[in-house]
Amino acid sequence: MSIGTVPGARYIDRQMKDDTLETIMRLKKEKNAILLAHYYQEEEIQDIADFVGDSLELARTAKTTHAGMIVFAGVHFMAEGAKILNPSARVVIPDLQAGCSLSDSCPPKAFEYFRRQHPDHFVVSYINCSAAIKAQSDVICTSSNAVKIVERIPRDRKIIFAPDRNLGAYVARQTRREMLLWPGSCIVHETFSERKIARLMLDHPDAELIAHPECEASLLEKAKFTGSTSGLIKYVESAKARKFIVATEEGVIHQMKKRAPGKEFIPAPPNHECSCNECAFMRLITPEKIRASLETGEPEITLTEDLRLRALKPLELMLEWSK
Ligand code: 13P
Ligand code: SF4
Repeated sequence: MSIGTVPGARYIDRQMKDDTLETIMRLKKEKNAILLAHYYQEEEIQDIADFVGDSLELARTAKTTHAGMIVFAGVHFMAEGAKILNPSARVVIPDLQAGCSLSDSCPPKAFEYFRRQHPDHFVVSYINCSAAIKAQSDVICTSSNAVKIVERIPRDRKIIFAPDRNLGAYVARQTRREMLLWPGSCIVHETFSERKIARLMLDHPDAELIAHPECEASLLEKAKFTGSTSGLIKYVESAKARKFIVATEEGVIHQMKKRAPGKEFIPAPPNHECSCNECAFMRLITPEKIRASLETGEPEITLTEDLRLRALKPLELMLEWSK
């Protein structure tokens, strides 16, 4: 007999979850800790977090918090960014394996070689990259401020955009700037099936397709609105439409339902019969691992001061330019 079929197992499971969530709330207070969560986290984590946001909002909150400990329910580059911006806080990520395919697609040595081939280029890196890539960049951007950041660069400067070729191509179209694109991408945003989405649009003619700019150009062309996770949430709140096909990680739909109750959200289907529109890295974080991190203060994010300072410079420029 499996646990799922044991009489009362569901009740015990719920009880254990509630105990974990209560312990997290208690430990946060005891340890002067703040729990930050990205919109791609599972619903229960979003609901107990002190702050839920997109990459830019999370970076700003991490920089300004007075908490002694930041528990980052997100992926490694986000927690690392928090440490770069707020070195006096202890920053922990509940699972060190929570990486990012996009960040991994840009190894520091290969990027250094690429940059050296184009020494006259201004380097814009998407925040979804390691500290070693940030340290090689002139400015950082997120999906919510990328267009604004690129518009600040004098028009006579040539630009390298890394590591997301889809976001880079989107920004190039919006700003009419030519940019050299690093060929990285996100596994989640590149697996949506345009054929299945086209079918859904026929079945739901009243639904609007909305998409994250990490999606491929051919999908973005069909979207009524393109924006960061926060941008997409704000859009569904204010749009007249009542139904949306959402082409980004499914976790974001939790906030959409809360902020736009009564509206309908259909997750854009991936190519395969799988949960590919859930980010496997983000989903490594669980309430149990958050509790363990709060108890032990581990795994802690650490950086050499030299690397931190080099990565801080382009991050601070981003914050300045996106005011
Ligand atoms: P935003 O939070 O900027 O929308 O980015 C989404 C993402 O893919 C984070 O990894
Ligand atoms: Fe990285 Fe894509 Fe996951 Fe975002 S959704 S953390 S870009 S793998």
